Amino acid sequence: MKVLEVDGNYPLTGSVRIGGAKNSAVALIPACLLSNESITLTNVPDISDISNLIKMLEHLNVKVNIASGSLVLDCSSLENNFIPNELSSKIRASYYFMSSLLARFKSVKMYFPGGCKIGARPIDQTLKVYKALGCTIKEENNLFEIKADSLTGNTINLDMPSVGATVNAIIVSSLAKGTTIINNAAREPEIEDVCNMLNDMGAKIEGFGTSKIVINGVEKLHGTNHNIIPDRIEAGTYTILGAMIGTYLKIDNIIPLHIKALTDKLIEMGVDIELHEDYLIVNSSNNLKSVDIETKGYPGFATDLQQPIVPLLTLCKGKSIVNETIYENRYMNIPYLNKMGTNINVNGRIATILGPTKLKGGIVEATDLRAGASLLLASLKAEGHTTIKNIEHILRGYENLIDKLTNIGAKIELKEIDE
Ligand code: EPU
Repeated sequence: MKVLEVDGNYPLTGSVRIGGAKNSAVALIPACLLSNESITLTNVPDISDISNLIKMLEHLNVKVNIASGSLVLDCSSLENNFIPNELSSKIRASYYFMSSLLARFKSVKMYFPGGCKIGARPIDQTLKVYKALGCTIKEENNLFEIKADSLTGNTINLDMPSVGATVNAIIVSSLAKGTTIINNAAREPEIEDVCNMLNDMGAKIEGFGTSKIVINGVEKLHGTNHNIIPDRIEAGTYTILGAMIGTYLKIDNIIPLHIKALTDKLIEMGVDIELHEDYLIVNSSNNLKSVDIETKGYPGFATDLQQPIVPLLTLCKGKSIVNETIYENRYMNIPYLNKMGTNINVNGRIATILGPTKLKGGIVEATDLRAGASLLLASLKAEGHTTIKNIEHILRGYENLIDKLTNIGAKIELKEIDE
């Protein structure tokens, strides 16, 4: 097991450069399978989710060339091979391969995808898309076998603006016959990133960034070069860290609009933050005011920043209420935060935080990616030493974590221990 050993309460200063967006990259890579020609992705984050996707690409006979931050994919010999459950169950985005293989071969066999255990995370909306486009679906013990004689565009009204179902609908309909309309589509910037790349490859997608996306299917897509957008969740996490213990901390290479819901909340709390075109500067402050947070799809407050912001809320004066509307099980960090000295009560989807409280070190465990980030932020502010177990979860989504934190003054070490 990998653990982080953290000595807390050192002021953090300097600059953190934000990498490419995980949730773009994990959708862009499967989308590349739609073309026979070579595609170069740049600003690819160096995280374990990408290493796992690369292993899946090897199963599909895709030639992969990796060179510092760029990935060249050659799908000219793509094969519709089965991706073993041990691999596809590691990440949620593995089911984007279902869509690209379906688009290319009109058939696919794959297990239910994995991902953080933050809720049931059904895939009914993606299956609804496949059915609408003419597929038949067989499922036994979580193994899905999906087939179509041909894929034909249709109008799909999603029950909720699911990111995954929207991406799947875009991928599968880009090569379908006729027009597909997705109503109640998700509007996340990562979806726009996927649509921009596909349009550069010759796809005909309009309306992305709004809740109605129209895709006119084309016969073929060609190669391209695509630079991945900065990761707004990584940017948000370091910004929150700066608000907790930063001294003139620069968060560089960001798109401020993508984290506006967060920075608006920080300003409401009284955080000292300066926003610039592609960077921000943040300082920790005393006397922060409590605020309420409700997670929402983009452009609302991102659920992926809900767990990271909780340690900051524990430093604010008064009662903060968090309402997690997206996932039913995204408070697994709370018992560990309380062990570190916070006063947080969870009742269903609502967490009530009473502050300010003092954070102190302890032994805690990352149960999922953003829970791990939450505990990491708490440990960097806490008095004393913290051990965070199971940090494999954190390494799925934060690139060069130790270097980025050490460079700004954190006392942090990664160790491998026997379980
Ligand atoms: N949902 C359904 N049925 C579906 C699809 C979704 O009921 O068919 C529900 C989910 O159970 C959840 C909600 O709808 O309660 C939202 O799910 P969505 O499909 O939007 O999420 P996702 O595509 O599985 C992506 C990100 C998540 C991020 C969410 C919301 C990727 C690979 N994952 O998940 O990222 O939390 O969108 O923004 O893009 C993370 O990075 O830590 C992470 C979990």
